[in-house]
Amino acid sequence: MKDFYTMGIETSCDDSSVAILKNDREVLCNLISSQIDIHKIFGGVVPEIASRKHLEAINPLIEKALMDTGLSYDDIDLISVTKGPGLIGSLLVGISAAKALSLSTNTPMIGTNHMQGHICANYLSNKKLKPPFISLVVSGGHTYLVRVDDYTDYEIIGQTRDDAAGESYDKVARAIGLGYPGGPKIDKLSKEGDKEAIDFPRVMLEKDSYDFSFSGLKTSVLNYLNQKSQKNEEINKADVAASFQEAVVDVLVAKSMRLLDETGLKTLAVSGGVAANSRLKERLKEECDKRDIRFYNPDIILCTDNAAMIAMAGYLNYKAGERSDSYLKVYPNLGL
Ligand code: KG4
Ligand code: ZN
Repeated sequence: MKDFYTMGIETSCDDSSVAILKNDREVLCNLISSQIDIHKIFGGVVPEIASRKHLEAINPLIEKALMDTGLSYDDIDLISVTKGPGLIGSLLVGISAAKALSLSTNTPMIGTNHMQGHICANYLSNKKLKPPFISLVVSGGHTYLVRVDDYTDYEIIGQTRDDAAGESYDKVARAIGLGYPGGPKIDKLSKEGDKEAIDFPRVMLEKDSYDFSFSGLKTSVLNYLNQKSQKNEEINKADVAASFQEAVVDVLVAKSMRLLDETGLKTLAVSGGVAANSRLKERLKEECDKRDIRFYNPDIILCTDNAAMIAMAGYLNYKAGERSDSYLKVYPNLGL
């Protein structure tokens, strides 16, 4: 049977990425052009700069992906592009590139949900993973507990009511002067700190709720820092980082385990940028082992934003019969 090649295009935030997927789960290339160096000067993503940088990067990335894989435009069977959620100007660059490519080469195109992409990243790293399973999706913009019943069938069981998990990492990192993006920096610094040094709150919400709330925890860290500086007391940044991280991880782990216990499902797959967090992976693995639950996480490069996961999700949707046409729009606030 002829091989099927999907080109993924991802420009929802501050990473421009183009990938090529062969058939079901084989990543031939996954090119990522990061904009971190410019955004970190401003302490976070500047949307206007992000779209301009995507515009500069996208065509060279498409050409490089074809060159690296030895494929030509004619070999591509499907273009999968992120349609949302994300920054409107950034999304528009990816969608416009995909439309131009699709129209000029007569290749089918599909608009893909970025959050579904994060879940699908797990299929690329773990060839044996198949639904049903519970997915904990923790990124810079979203925090979801999802029941994945089939490859294109999802049900959101819980989500954040305010800050996303990654957002709280970024905000706390900024408050203790670690810079952007904060997640990897807090992860690293926490290894030198005492996670029991400060008792930050674990916000569980109502007894039966699978929703999350991280803004109170962030405020609590800010109050702690203010009090310390008012009293002219020294702040141990590593202790703050480790104690904050433990509070986030405790909540994510507790809710995931409760959902696994309640549904009886025997597989957990974590994904999104915060899935790169070493402490979160360690704790989830420990708790899953205790319950005889299979635990999956993507390779680090597939945790944060990348086009391979968008190609994977688009391929699954296409095989399920979904198509987009040249009127495809962007959906900055798209849910899962
Ligand atoms: O999924 P992603 O690349 O972008 C969004 O779709 O939002 O996630 C980025 C988020 C940022 O908030 C970043 O600080 C966080 O993931 N992150 C981490 C780690 N690596 C990235 N958070 C905690 N620990 C990490 N090692
Ligand atoms: Zn993302």
